[in-house]
Amino acid sequence: MTSHQRLVSALRTLLAAAALAGPPAIACAHQSLYAAMGGTKVVARFVSQTIDKVAADPRLNQSFRDVDLARVKRELTSYICQLAGGGCKYTGIPIRAVHANLGITQAQFYGLVQILRHQMRANHVDLRDRNRLLALLAPLEPQVVDVRVPPPKRKD
Ligand code: HEM
Repeated sequence: MTSHQRLVSALRTLLAAAALAGPPAIACAHQSLYAAMGGTKVVARFVSQTIDKVAADPRLNQSFRDVDLARVKRELTSYICQLAGGGCKYTGIPIRAVHANLGITQAQFYGLVQILRHQMRANHVDLRDRNRLLALLAPLEPQVVDVRVPPPKRKD
């Protein structure tokens, strides 16, 4: 084999190996925020940790009395999956309705957001992706804070 043939053969092997390895493992513009955060495995974990911490914090937990925490974790994960382009269809109670008449304050809203931010960081979600999710959640404040819905009028 000539040196030229050896070079061609080596290059072929390199190209074949690169093709097998697939695209480089860098964040790409087509990947959803949900996937970039680590998908369900990571999101379900930081949601679960956030809810546990909020429900244990006396400044934040007054609305969580008698609440099914496992359900909140499951539904919030699904909601974030939908919001962050993970392809889920949220089938829980609408956000405004589920928080109505719970007396949630603005300070409690930001208290939960702060814990969420911290838990995302603890689960190695990038700063950019943490900020992207928080930017999607921030506009929900009016659907969570101090939502008052009058009881339905009785006819009798
Ligand atoms: C961006 C902010 C928030 C989002 C996206 C969110 C989302 C959700 C979701 C998806 C559920 C479950 C709905 C279902 O059961 O079908 C839920 C329930 C609940 N959330 Fe939030 N939430 C937010 C902020 C808060 C805050 C700040 C508090 C209080 C500090 C809070 C307290 C609760 C409580 C107590 C429940 C359970 C209500 C019940 O089962 O009757 N949430 N939330």
